[in-house]
Amino acid sequence: MTTVLKLGGSVITEKEGVEKIHDPRLGKAVGMLADADVSRLVLVHGGGSFGHHHASKYDVSTTDGTHDPDAVLDIHEAMKRLNEVVVHRLNKAGVPAVPVHTLSTASRDAEGALTLCTTAVETLLAEGFVPVLHGDVIAHEGKGVTVVSGDEIVTALAQSLDADRVGICSGVPGVLDESKNVITEITDFESVAPALGGSETTDVSGGMAQKVRELLELGAPADIFGLDGLAAFLAGEAPGTRIDGRGD
Ligand code: IPE
Repeated sequence: MTTVLKLGGSVITEKEGVEKIHDPRLGKAVGMLADADVSRLVLVHGGGSFGHHHASKYDVSTTDGTHDPDAVLDIHEAMKRLNEVVVHRLNKAGVPAVPVHTLSTASRDAEGALTLCTTAVETLLAEGFVPVLHGDVIAHEGKGVTVVSGDEIVTALAQSLDADRVGICSGVPGVLDESKNVITEITDFESVAPALGGSETTDVSGGMAQKVRELLELGAPADIFGLDGLAAFLAGEAPGTRIDGRGD
């Protein structure tokens, strides 16, 4: 059983600030991960106030690239600082987390399609580690570098590792409808498109609509839930919104 779990940037950082960890929420997530008994777990975390702040400063997104090495270093190093904090907190709590930096393992072709090399992740998993990847900047043919979101990494990992379970722990308790109620199940994009507005804070990688689109493409069910649902997800339950585009 392989599980891919993303901790959203809005969960572990204060998304409105600049490079601010949200200590209580990160601590809570780490505690739940330490208490859970999940074999073959791969973690991915988003950018929050580390990645998005720097990416928008240079107008870099998943589609708009840069050839400026200062921009690449600024964004990548901010994400590495966040990754270092996450990995160290997990280790301190007894989770055998090790960093995997996406810039060195992924790239996009001229059409923007993502290729993620997962041989290191697979070996780390087999050796009992918990690899921790992160949203990042990556090489993009014809565009220099562009942003890769944690959600794209989750999708690519889930496909490549043939994951059985996918979880997205986000700043909201699930995908919300127009009345702000959690939609418990999504099986196609059109039926929920009107409810999925834009993200309110700086988000260079597409917000909730993009998340849902990508998760519908998976060969495994995915759950989107808030931090309060993380323990349940880790225990094998389906809190929040279940997204399953596989059809009957
Ligand atoms: C963004 O990753 C990474 C960068 C901006 C470099 P995500 O788009 O997955 O981050 P969150 O979870 O929305 O903050």
